[in-house]
Amino acid sequence: MSNKNFKKFSFSCLFKKNTNLNLHEPSFDNQEIKDVKTCIKKKNVSTSGSLTKIFEKKISSIIKCKHVIATNSGTSALHLALITLGVQKGDEVLMPSLNYIASANACLYLGAKPHFVDVDTETLGVDPKSLNEYLLKNTLLKNGKCINRKTRNQIKSIICLHTFGHPCKINEIKKISKKFKLSIIEDAAEALGSYYKKRHVGAFGDIGILSFNGNKIITTGGGGAILTNNYKYAKRILSLATIYKKKHPWKYEYDNLGYNYRMPSLNSAIGLSQIKKLKNFVSKKRRLYKIYEKKTSKLKLFKLFKEPINCKSNYWLQTIILKNDNIKLRNQIIINSHKDGIKVRPVWRPLHKSKYLKKMPRMKLKNTQILENRLINLPSSPDITNILS
Ligand SMILES: Cc1ncc(COP(=O)(O)O)c(C=O)c1O
Repeated sequence: MSNKNFKKFSFSCLFKKNTNLNLHEPSFDNQEIKDVKTCIKKKNVSTSGSLTKIFEKKISSIIKCKHVIATNSGTSALHLALITLGVQKGDEVLMPSLNYIASANACLYLGAKPHFVDVDTETLGVDPKSLNEYLLKNTLLKNGKCINRKTRNQIKSIICLHTFGHPCKINEIKKISKKFKLSIIEDAAEALGSYYKKRHVGAFGDIGILSFNGNKIITTGGGGAILTNNYKYAKRILSLATIYKKKHPWKYEYDNLGYNYRMPSLNSAIGLSQIKKLKNFVSKKRRLYKIYEKKTSKLKLFKLFKEPINCKSNYWLQTIILKNDNIKLRNQIIINSHKDGIKVRPVWRPLHKSKYLKKMPRMKLKNTQILENRLINLPSSPDITNILS
């Protein structure tokens, strides 16, 4: 294809004629229907009962993380993680601007400020090199606290993200966070089934989170989980997620301000069926990558994004990077593909561009800008390999 024809390009050329495809759909069979029916028959639908605990145990054994608390969303998991790590009004929390909105919102719920950092182009996650240089220049350590020289606020934590399932450089980020006295939250919402140097992501930081929203690799309808190896954190998180209610058969007494964030049994029932299929979903998604790679290897317009070295990605969302830095071309390709029924998606608009986040502190976001103009996510549901042309 010549440069001139790039404007006509549509991702429909990868699929059989007249295919309509969403970006990502959940995959269910009779098992989920059976398990939800059982839940309803037993009237075991809300937060009491044993199903959520069983689901948590399964997640814990996959991730090899001591404590797992299932929540009603990934966003509520982030909110509780920040509270548990002591983030308060006026604090700053570092996070990539190339990100889903949940981390920034969870900070704002607490009156804290998101502070945006750049990503690297190998992993799409936090770039340790620019982060280290930025913190050296713009912060000072005072009484064991990392202080932003400009705003004089404490920078308390960093939330790093395993974007589209690809592990970020978590060991390097961990070293930097230690040096600058920052706690780490690992946003592994998209990365169940992904490994960094043979260890599952999500359990490297002080606290990790997952999402089981309908578009994730496994779903509970809506849901999330908090991961930690710290017993004290786990105890606090469980209380926070269950309105700090004292354990008692009939008394309603509360020890503190809490939230109604625990995962209901109905959702856990779906999760228990889905988790049995996780390995299968991961291998289907890895196969999908190989097929896309073969089909697109001769196209000069873009490159398919590959898992970082030393990592095994769940390839939750397949991604391409356009070779030209041209947002108009990116938009045209998306329009063409949608017209043809293929619902590709641009990467998130960087968070610092949202009106209500414009004034938040940030470093130079060079790679973020380049990637915004170039990234497109392709249809990635686990069951679509048979409709590729
Ligand atoms: C990276 C990331 N973090 C957090 C969330 C929030 O999860 P939820 O939608 O379950 O609240 C999502 C997605 O939905 C996400 O993609």
